[in-house]
Amino acid sequence: MERTKIFKLLKSETPAAEVLIKGWIRTRRDSKAFSFLEINDGSCLKNIQVIANDTLPNYDEIKKLTTGSAVVVRGELVESQGGGQKWEIAGAQIDIISLAPENYPLQKKRHTDEFLRTIAHLRPRTNKYGAAYRLRSDMSYAIHQFFRDSGFRYVHTPILTGSDCEGAGELFKVTALDLESLPQKEGKTDYLQDFFAKEANLTVSGQLSAEMFCLALGDVYTFGPTFRAENSNTRRHAAEFWMIEPEMAFCDLQGNMDLGEALIKYLTSYVMRECADDLELFAKWVDTNLMQTLENTAISDYIRLPYREAVEVLQKSGRKFEYEVGFGNDLQTEHERFLTEKHFKKPVIVYDYPKTIKPFYMRLNDDNETVAAMDILVPNIGEIIGGSQREERLEVLEARMVETGMEKEPYWWYLESRKFGTVPHSGFGLGFERLLMLVTGISNIRDVIPFPRTPGSIEF
Ligand code: 4AD
Ligand code: MG
Repeated sequence: MERTKIFKLLKSETPAAEVLIKGWIRTRRDSKAFSFLEINDGSCLKNIQVIANDTLPNYDEIKKLTTGSAVVVRGELVESQGGGQKWEIAGAQIDIISLAPENYPLQKKRHTDEFLRTIAHLRPRTNKYGAAYRLRSDMSYAIHQFFRDSGFRYVHTPILTGSDCEGAGELFKVTALDLESLPQKEGKTDYLQDFFAKEANLTVSGQLSAEMFCLALGDVYTFGPTFRAENSNTRRHAAEFWMIEPEMAFCDLQGNMDLGEALIKYLTSYVMRECADDLELFAKWVDTNLMQTLENTAISDYIRLPYREAVEVLQKSGRKFEYEVGFGNDLQTEHERFLTEKHFKKPVIVYDYPKTIKPFYMRLNDDNETVAAMDILVPNIGEIIGGSQREERLEVLEARMVETGMEKEPYWWYLESRKFGTVPHSGFGLGFERLLMLVTGISNIRDVIPFPRTPGSIEF
């Protein structure tokens, strides 16, 4: 007989003479002639209750079952006598696969997020983290669904690259050289002797590759891991994070903003519709405003505001910010959160940023001072999407590379795309973990990644 996942059993319409489940004991409660076992198999938040009668041949063993022990249960699915659940299983055979010792760290009491980070290998077994990682899986699926339904093709862009898309120099270098004795040439490391015969690093963004594919397949997206050696220990930065990067041919900044807004609306609606059980936990225990935030994000029209006006709003706010506000200064989290949470009270798209604070590939506006960039800001997070229309004019692009101090030679292939059939095109990056923070209300990025990588931390 085949095992049934608990999420399916709980949705049963009718009783069943025989079912088989496999899972772990959450709690055991003994009564006079039987024990109640609460069993979870990870397929959903809810447990199923199993009644173990003292007539079972191994009842003495069953009475020793501890939290975290693994069992296989055959029995009858019957309507529950007690309140709180519709179904329970009258156990006919309970095989004990392994017994967890009494010092199993996840006893019934609640643990702090900080403590659970120190046992990241066990925390997915808790209600909250189990729900977070099921949501992570469901949201990945929703993203692919959105793009597939919208006619986008999925491109796998390389993780090992020789380029620095953002030009910020926050690269994790990749080498096969012996770090204890690096080959030298003219006083410098001789990368000709390295694996790729040049310097290589982990990608900070799949954009440049995605652009090549949008100019071939039309609308494409990448969805994969990206890496940044930013030494900022904040609650919204990780050194390894996942990014969703659509890229659209024949598309300007307007179309780019439309797609970003549509994507976030789709995903917040999706989670409310399809992940209600897990979401309930977050709305109850993590962020009591969660449902309101999600509804607001799913329904309201987002504010669209040029960077210049955003700066004015901030300057006129009368607020004391830690970082100074002024044309040419990047918006900091505190500014972003003020705009979206306090001032507009809904998601905000800021566009046309000064070229001095943005990378080389963004399209120069006619004012020669700003570029066709756009960031989408949402409550509790700040920037969740960063994107732009791309500079499709070869001469302007080359001039921007010189201006930003980039070498042209390694990007010869990127520049060639502007020689052959160049068209206006646009795209953005959505930080997957920031999306998960938005939909769960979890306030630290470390808690939405299974095994987070942050400065000084790569334990698991
Ligand atoms: O704004 P960013 O740096 O944009 C790019 O990388 C573009 N090349 C994307 C594109 O146009 N195809 O990053 C995009 C998003 C941010 O808005 C943020 O959500 C997320 O990626 N992000 C991070 N998430 C977690 N940890 C970090 N260190 C992140 N850096 C960026
Ligand atoms: Mg950005």
